[in-house]
Formats: sequence, C-alpha cells, structure tokens
Amino acid sequence: MKTLISSDVRLLANLIQEGKVVIFPTETVYGIGASTKNEAACLRVYEIKGRPKDNPLIAHFHSIESIEEVCVLSEIGRKVLERFSPGPITLILPKKDKSLFPKDLDTLAVRIPKNPDIREWIRLTGGPISAPSANLSGRPSLTKLADVVRYFDGKVDGILIAEEPSYGIESTVLSLVGEHPTLLRPGSIESEELKTLLPDLVVPNPLETSPALSMSSVPLSPGTKYKHYAPSAQVLLVSTEEFIHSLKTGFDSKDTAWIGFSLSSKEGKGKVLTERNDAVSKEAGGFSEFDHFSIVSTNEEYASKLYAFFEACDLSKIQTIICEAPKPGKGWEGLRNRLEKAALKK
Ligand code: TXA
Ligand code: MG
Repeated sequence: MKTLISSDVRLLANLIQEGKVVIFPTETVYGIGASTKNEAACLRVYEIKGRPKDNPLIAHFHSIESIEEVCVLSEIGRKVLERFSPGPITLILPKKDKSLFPKDLDTLAVRIPKNPDIREWIRLTGGPISAPSANLSGRPSLTKLADVVRYFDGKVDGILIAEEPSYGIESTVLSLVGEHPTLLRPGSIESEELKTLLPDLVVPNPLETSPALSMSSVPLSPGTKYKHYAPSAQVLLVSTEEFIHSLKTGFDSKDTAWIGFSLSSKEGKGKVLTERNDAVSKEAGGFSEFDHFSIVSTNEEYASKLYAFFEACDLSKIQTIICEAPKPGKGWEGLRNRLEKAALKK
C-alpha cells in the first residue's frame, strides 16, 4: 500500500471521508485514526495495531459543540471541558448517537486535541476521528514522525505531518458516567487539578499494581493484563540512590541505557563514559551513535522524552534501561504510572 505522507489537511481529510486510516500527531502522542461513523474503517485500525477488540477507542473532536451533538454533556462535564480542553484530557460520556463506533457501548470517550491544525483537519473530515495511540499493541506510544514512518509506512493510507507531540504521555482519562467521577488513566492533567472542579473524584490507588521501587525486588503483578507501554529492553525503575549506584557499578555499559535527573556526577556518568572509551579502543567497531544517557530536568521533560528514548534503545539493541524515579510534585502522577507499567516484567 502507498502511504500518503503530507501536511495537507485537505488531502488527508479526504482520505478519512473515503473510509481510509490516517496517522496524525496530537499534543500527547501520535494517533492512528478512522471516521467514528465508519465501523469497517475503525476495525481496520484494530487490525493494523494488533489491538484486542474489547479495548474501545477515543473519539477526537474539533469543538465542545460537536461533542454535544452526539453525547450527553452534563454541566460539570462542560466545566471540565471548558477548563482543560483543547488539551490532554479524555472524558467518558453517555452516548446520544448510538450509531457511533463502538456500537455495542453506551458510552463514548471524547477528546479535543490541542493543535489547531489537527482540529481543522478533524473539522474537514466531518469528524469525529476514532483513534488509539499509533503503536503496535503493547509497545510504547510513538512521539516522533521518524518512528511512525518506520513502523507504519505502507500499512496505513496516510500520515499527517504537523507539530510533534510535546507532552509525550497519553491523555488523562476521566469517567463521568458512574456515581462519582473516576480517574481511569492518570496523565498530564493531574488529579489535584481535577479535584478543584470535582471534589468527589475517585482516584484508584496506583500502588495496587506497582512493582516495588527496587532493582532487586520482584514486581507484584507480572500479569500480562498490565503489560503496556513497554519496550523490548527490560526497564528498571529505581530510586535516585540506586540510579547513581548503577552508573558506577554492576551494569555492562555497552547494552545499558539511563534516563533521569542525576546524570551529571563525575563518578557516575563520567565513570561509565571512561569505561566505554576504554572498551571502544579495545574493540574495533566500538559504539554506535546512540547516546546511552538521556538527561532531564523536570518530570514534564522526562515524560516528553520517555517513549522516544525507549524506541531509540530498542533500535540500538539495548538490554536494560535504568529509569530514575520521577520527582514528587508536578508531572509525577502520569509519568510514574507509565514508568511502572513499562517496568513490569514480561
Ligand atoms: O493521548 C491520548 O489519549 C492518545 C491520543 C492519540 O489521543 N490516545 C490514546 O488512545 O492513548 P488509547 O486507545 O491508547 O487509549 C484509550 C484509553 C484506553 O485505556 C481505553 O480502554 C479507554 O481509553 N477508553 C476508550 N473508550 C472508553 C470507554 N467508552 N469507556 C472506558 N474507557 C474507554
Ligand atoms: Mg495506547
């Protein structure tokens, strides 16, 4: 199949109207989309990703009004949208239009992406666009055009070129259909912020499914149910102390990579680099251009770099990725959740 890769929103909107599948960037991650009104096209998205059929898709809209045409929007639902949309938040709402995909559900996940070009594209398609993250099922979501092209060129009808994702982790998912508003997936819009509008917000305990924060301990829930967002390399989520220790000792620096805040210490990164240089001079061929270290200064920067770093590590056949625990405070919630999921043993 020939994939049309273009920034022309009109051309790519035409593809959706013809029942085709198009990949597009959002402020969170790339999505792989089809018209919510076209069941066959939506089912193709599942096939391309290898996604289990019981996992429903988010419908992407260009405006609050267009959501209201097809869903029941309560007063509080409207307030949440007015406050946080367009932006990285998805609401689960009761469906008015039962013909929309997925037809067997009474609810619809709705979201308005932040980038005006993407909203214009959705508007031109007639909308909405049902889209999961553009990745093979179980793997990390994608945040770079080059990775999208590597996986999906020839497998989808179009790839829309627009501003690359900046948040880097998937949207916060908030259900407004039960008795109490419930956080279904943490993200960049955090529970503390949501509670200012929704004081009765239910936040399921994230520690229930988390592996212990130690390199030596065994994760609590190795079940495949939770395997998600994971690269092929093994991910170790460790404390700052363990992170610094791991730089100095215990890991073969040729097939290990590090992402975190504490990468500047001389005995740490400096020591690893010296060892690597020694190794390079010993073995002809040496290292690829791959940088084994990703330095971040905030949780937000960490989130925005994480999935692309995972991809780069897998491409370079890295065996172990050591991730420093995020800092308590802003940006912790969603990042911590993704790191924990990636660190669950396969
Ligand atoms: O940032 C994002 O949300 C990205 C971009 C492309 O918008 N999309 C994304 O989609 O992450 P996906 O399919 O990877 O995750 C959607 C989540 C899943 O956990 C799914 O189970 C949940 O939303 N979901 C979708 N429809 C639902 C519904 N009607 N009720 C409850 N959960 C739903
Ligand atoms: Mg996904």
